[in-house]
Amino acid sequence: MNVLIYDTEEQIGIAAGNYMCGQVLQKPDSVLGLATGSTPLKPYNQMIDLYKRGVVDFSQVTTFNLDEYVRLNVKDKNSYHSFMHENLFDHINIPEENINFLNGNAEDLEQECKNYEKKIKAAGGIDIQLLGIGSNGHIAFNEPADCFQRWSHVVTLKESTVKDNSRFFTSIEEVPTQAVTMGIGSIMQAKKILIIALGKKKAAAIKQLIDGNVTPMCPASVLQFHTDVTLMLDKEAASLL
Ligand code: PGA
Repeated sequence: MNVLIYDTEEQIGIAAGNYMCGQVLQKPDSVLGLATGSTPLKPYNQMIDLYKRGVVDFSQVTTFNLDEYVRLNVKDKNSYHSFMHENLFDHINIPEENINFLNGNAEDLEQECKNYEKKIKAAGGIDIQLLGIGSNGHIAFNEPADCFQRWSHVVTLKESTVKDNSRFFTSIEEVPTQAVTMGIGSIMQAKKILIIALGKKKAAAIKQLIDGNVTPMCPASVLQFHTDVTLMLDKEAASLL
């Protein structure tokens, strides 16, 4: 694993945004796997900045987001659909039809998950998957569990994740308790992975990811088996290494 440690979140934002854009410069029709949460905000700002400065063109790019809440209106400000539009898609030129999400409002969620996998495959697979990490070691909504879930699936969120995410909602009761998420196999099939972690509360999960046993109790630890992983960490997230 390529472990890069930076002084500030700003520096990580620039480095990570440049890394994503570098992929697009090299292959204009890249397939990008994207993430939500507070971690990717600065990388997305950098991608927007490079686009606005005419450095990079996203017109041939396709995206797949990692996950979405179940039964939350996509227009709700807390849907990942809204998040991505507000923080990235509304400011760059990815054609709307190239933007893909798991539909958490699909009638048949199991079928929706199967279709999503087919779409990723039909697009040629993901070139770079951007990931955050949960304080409990989750990636996307793959929560600590007894076994790894391979493909996209419906998941009931752990209490700790509901609590972590409640900061975006008015009250914890409003946080959906289910989500649809890419599986560990979907993520592991990405050609490259860029994982970012900020802050002390990610330090234990990062230590386990890098040095620990590979176990579904820390889903991110499976990344030890991927051949092209870059980690961008601030000093706090790297403090236990
Ligand atoms: P965060 O979430 O970026 O808001 O810390 C990361 C995650 O839970 O994957």
